[in-house]
Amino acid sequence: MAKLHLGVLGSGSGSNMQSIVDAIEAGTLDAEIKVVLADFPDAKILDRARKHNIPCQFLDCSPWKTKLADAAEENCIKILKDAGVDTVVLAGFMRIVKPKLLEAFPNRVLNIHPALLPAFPGVHSWTQALDYGCKVAGVTVHFVDAGTDSGPIIVQKAVPVLEDDTPETLHARIQVQEHIAFPEALNILASGKYRIEGRRVRIG
Ligand code: GAR
Repeated sequence: MAKLHLGVLGSGSGSNMQSIVDAIEAGTLDAEIKVVLADFPDAKILDRARKHNIPCQFLDCSPWKTKLADAAEENCIKILKDAGVDTVVLAGFMRIVKPKLLEAFPNRVLNIHPALLPAFPGVHSWTQALDYGCKVAGVTVHFVDAGTDSGPIIVQKAVPVLEDDTPETLHARIQVQEHIAFPEALNILASGKYRIEGRRVRIG
């Protein structure tokens, strides 16, 4: 077991970061969040970080809306390295990260995606699953590679799609599982008992 030194990147409410904080505080995850970065200055994830005295800051990614521009990426890598981060967690970070960040943390960047990949990559995946008529939806935690939502899968959890689901009720049910899946995936990393073989993450 090796304690994880986490850097968390987010864009929104930060409920996934909260699930990681809760697992650390409950003693079920051997990790420390070294820094939290958000691409919106008023993102709730920053409020949550402040509440737990976790260093946090706004990462200016302008002018882009969906990617990390070169200067922002370099700044991001510097902040993460200076903070002593060894594992980067994308917790609702709605931007594509680029090769430089992945090269700075090889096989140590994790993403959570609200779908059973490879189905429904991209945005609003729960709405995509509902519109498609899926009877099962879910969540995936995976290593990030150069593609979009395409890296080797660490943990997946399924939820049923119910007859009266709206996008909101389905997303809420998926989020309950997200909050279990992310700490679980990080525990696998901390255990060191896994290996990546091609697309497969072999655990144990
Ligand atoms: C989560 O549902 C996460 O799976 C999704 O954003 C939400 C963030 O919630 N991520 C993506 O869609 C990435 N493509 P949170 O800010 O409450 O953790």
